[in-house]
Amino acid sequence: MNKPFSPLITIAFVAATSIFMVNCKNETPPAEAAETPALATIAIAKSPFGTTADGQAVDKFSLKNKLGMQVDVITYGGIITAWTAPDKTGNYANVVLGYDNLAQYEKATPYFGALIGRYGNRIAKGKFTLDGQTFQLETNDGPNTLHGGVKGFDKVVWTATEHPVDNGSALKLTYVSKDGEGGYPGTLTSTVVYHLTDDNALEVSYEATTDKKTVANLTQHSYFNLSGDFTKPILDHELTIDADKYLPVDAMLIPTGELKAVENTPFDFRQAKTVGKDIGQKDDQLTKGKGYDHCWVLNGQGFRKVSTAYHPSTGRLLEVSTDEPGIQFYCGNFLDGTLPTPGGGTYAHRTGFCLETQHYPDSPNQPSFPSTTLAPGEKYATKTTFKFSTR
Ligand code: BGC
Repeated sequence: MNKPFSPLITIAFVAATSIFMVNCKNETPPAEAAETPALATIAIAKSPFGTTADGQAVDKFSLKNKLGMQVDVITYGGIITAWTAPDKTGNYANVVLGYDNLAQYEKATPYFGALIGRYGNRIAKGKFTLDGQTFQLETNDGPNTLHGGVKGFDKVVWTATEHPVDNGSALKLTYVSKDGEGGYPGTLTSTVVYHLTDDNALEVSYEATTDKKTVANLTQHSYFNLSGDFTKPILDHELTIDADKYLPVDAMLIPTGELKAVENTPFDFRQAKTVGKDIGQKDDQLTKGKGYDHCWVLNGQGFRKVSTAYHPSTGRLLEVSTDEPGIQFYCGNFLDGTLPTPGGGTYAHRTGFCLETQHYPDSPNQPSFPSTTLAPGEKYATKTTFKFSTR
């Protein structure tokens, strides 16, 4: 059983860090450190990040690895507020959009950096049927439910616990969603482990169990801009998505049910091309999505590399691997210059993109899609890795 974070544990971790750093430099560790049992986990610094409007304390945890990458996670929404990655000259910069204060996350966020649940993406009319019983969810996207509903997993405070690992550092978040919350059946107990490894990968491992039949489809909603300069649109990023097909949508972004070949369409990212290359094409699906805002049907099965994003001038490369059947590529079409950046500016159109690994949108209503049903006794378990390097 994992223990909740305590100041003591944090101190122990900090102590472990300095020992670890010494070892990394191939220097002889001090005599007392040599006696210390394996302490590979690097310090996770914990600091307060404010209090929610309804009075819940929120903490920030900074995960670090031996190369210097840092991932800041807050317990509100499991949100990644900052994530540094090196460019080809070794300079680390934050590459994810976010805010520097809780109030702004509570006020208005397009899911910046957040954990999404119970159901990532859309459920048509917020309604589905399980074993003959129909469930009506709270709707929050016109007539539909998006990313869990009015108060999805991005808007709740998760419990953080220590999660020892043999390299880098890791944090485990837990949230128990009550039976009926948002309209969903069953008490859903979800855990998400963020493990920052020593080779600059962030592994995100999700698990969930339920006490009544329900649906589950969790994901991570970081907005990347590999330039590290959030005034710049992401259209110059070179993207690959290993998918021969994608899911066309209707005007409300609900999949029509068709699995359409990407060949000879702007949706073909099987060979690297810039996000901007075909985004301006006259295409009914691009019009509906206001750009790319679709789920691709990933090739292959099991844990595999599914997507890469490369930023030529900084050399930053992001590789995404997952065991999920789909990935929603959303290129920040709804960013419109109204949300504030920590630096005093605003997030302009298409200054961030998301690669949300997941089951297909609206699966509870589309029997031909892979199932998102979770029954008591079953374990929902899925993993996605975001790995950074340079080229
Ligand atoms: C959706 C977009 C939505 C965005 C939220 C994405 O996952 O596909 O349609 O606007 O999240 O900002």
